[in-house]
Amino acid sequence: MNIVLCGFMGCGKTTVGKRLAKELGRKFYDTDDMIVEEQGKSITKIFEEVGECGFREIEKSIIKKASQLENAVIATGGGVVLNPENVETLKTTGKIVFIDVTAQMVIARLKNNKTRPLLQRPDKEKVIEKMLTERRPKYLSAADYTIVPQYGGPNEVVKCIKMQLNL
Ligand code: S3P
Repeated sequence: MNIVLCGFMGCGKTTVGKRLAKELGRKFYDTDDMIVEEQGKSITKIFEEVGECGFREIEKSIIKKASQLENAVIATGGGVVLNPENVETLKTTGKIVFIDVTAQMVIARLKNNKTRPLLQRPDKEKVIEKMLTERRPKYLSAADYTIVPQYGGPNEVVKCIKMQLNL
């Protein structure tokens, strides 16, 4: 089975995923990186050219590809759970782990970030709070396991995932 990491932008999916994969001797994939590689352009450029709807279509096809992997650790984009079909697809070959961080943690981590098109707004903090409130029920219902970091550091999250999944 794959281990699929989901959660809001900035929750640490990529950092945690890389470390977890290394510790478990598994391959690591990031669905955003797969999109960038396939399309030959950045996520920002894709949003500029085809908008969020176009991006979600590309994302859906990458999720299908990612679900064909075996024994991998897969970090997914924060919006993957918006489409229930993605969740269904990922569950066919993987266990979904939700990294449940607070809006405050996300705000602190992404305040200067320029690579998330949905957050390039002057009211970034409000947008993060609103989006997280809307999405959190979706992450929770998609998740086979939920990790609530106390401090939020990647080592703590990796340890919790290994414990919860008996790895
Ligand atoms: C998005 C999250 C991003 C990326 C895109 C949209 C979202 O991935 O897929 O900018 O809607 O939450 P990360 O969660 O890896 O930042």
